[in-house]
Amino acid sequence: MQVLAIYSESGGVTKTSTAVSLAVVAARKGRRVTLIDLDPRSATTKWARVEPEQDHLHVGAILAHDDCEGYAEELGIVVPGWSENLRVVPAARNVSNREAEYSDGAEFRLKTSLVGLESDLVIIDCPNRQGGPLIKGALTAADSIIYASKLSGDGVDGVIGARQTVTQFKKNLARIGAPSSPDELGIIAAAITDNLVAQPVVERVAAEDLGETGLLLTPMVPKRTIVEQVRLTGEWYGDYPSGQKVLDAYIQLSERVIR
Ligand SMILES: Nc1ncnc2c1ncn2[C@@H]1O[C@H](COP(=O)(O)OP(=O)(O)OP(=O)(O)O)[C@@H](O)[C@H]1O
Ligand SMILES: [Mg+2]
Repeated sequence: MQVLAIYSESGGVTKTSTAVSLAVVAARKGRRVTLIDLDPRSATTKWARVEPEQDHLHVGAILAHDDCEGYAEELGIVVPGWSENLRVVPAARNVSNREAEYSDGAEFRLKTSLVGLESDLVIIDCPNRQGGPLIKGALTAADSIIYASKLSGDGVDGVIGARQTVTQFKKNLARIGAPSSPDELGIIAAAITDNLVAQPVVERVAAEDLGETGLLLTPMVPKRTIVEQVRLTGEWYGDYPSGQKVLDAYIQLSERVIR
């Protein structure tokens, strides 16, 4: 089972779009996928229209309990309109209470919840945070990290900051002799202007900055308004002709990052 965290310190830089896209692409290829919404703002949960059966049955239940083996299997909700192979573990506003969770071992809970999970792939949609309990939980659970970015100053900043958090996390693991730590698989840049003549200078500069890390993955994902519009209707943009270019990019990227 591969566990992939989608991370950036910045807000609004395509983390959720990338997490959902990689999840749906893999699920429609026949992989069993669990998509975990770790963001109290719940963008993935709202887009997928996954309502917990009871108020407390969301990712917050995992983050509040040490003995949470099997919780991810219990909490995942199928999104039939996207794929029968895809389950989403929803978030809720009060997941933000867990940001003040400093009890011993709290960072292991998300990983513990994956025990017994019948999935080939887990994707974690991270909130935009500079470290902290939620991110520590995601990095502890993940074996792979993808940074998401728009081609903007915020996008680049968010990747640089997130990489600092990840580097420190990996150093700490090395210090205690941990046998493994999450791999940085690369940066996915999305919502870019794909007409080169119309490309704003800021996008070109941001692409250069991200390129200097040596982690920028290709192709970059083009900007199409359908990606924003489907959030209001709970649909999958890949089901529309105007979303095809975006879908094609994520299909190629998934071949690079999903085992
Ligand atoms: N390929 C795309 N084409 C057009 N718009 C896009 C594309 N990808 C993402 N967007 C839009 O960009 C905005 C930010 O994307 P998204 O919500 O995925 O970012 P995020 O990093 O998860 O944000 P947050 O920090 O709020 O969780 C959204 O309005 C989304 O619809
Ligand atoms: Mg998001």
